[in-house]
Amino acid sequence: MSKKELKIDFEHFEGIDQLPIEDQQLCGRAEKALETAYAPYSRFRVGTAIALEDGKIVLGSNQENVAYPSGLCAERVALFQIGASDPEARILAMAITAHTSAFRIESPVTSCGACLQVMAEFEKKQGSPIAVLFYCRGGAVIKVSSIQALLPFGFVEERLGSRA
Ligand code: THU
Repeated sequence: MSKKELKIDFEHFEGIDQLPIEDQQLCGRAEKALETAYAPYSRFRVGTAIALEDGKIVLGSNQENVAYPSGLCAERVALFQIGASDPEARILAMAITAHTSAFRIESPVTSCGACLQVMAEFEKKQGSPIAVLFYCRGGAVIKVSSIQALLPFGFVEERLGSRA
């Protein structure tokens, strides 16, 4: 047995005003996406904005359902929209934010494991890193330069063995 250690590189900003201007704008668009969240059950709204290489910005928000597992997170709503409508698009960065009237969100809201797995597949498929910004309104921001940093032991195609 040997013990190993993984280190994750990320950037921490005290507020969005410390970010480069393009990142600030992307966070602003994620904030806008909160408006279309459909979250009558959790009352927890999540918004995302995804910047494509061609300059387009794709928005997504969480969409819930009375049969709870049928709903979908904001990140996957936006990513699958890109996959379905613009499959050759190259993603540069995504910003994710959240808001609830139930309590004050004090620290950046990070993505669930299922969303990380989907984000990782998009990154692998396009063969170039996707930067991710997690932030909360008026609070700190966490930025990673690649999904790889968030899911180092994610499930990858090679695990399926050779395909017929
Ligand atoms: N949610 C997201 O949209 N993204 C995540 O990464 C985690 C959670 C949504 C799902 C649900 O509508 C609400 O937040 C509460 O879990």
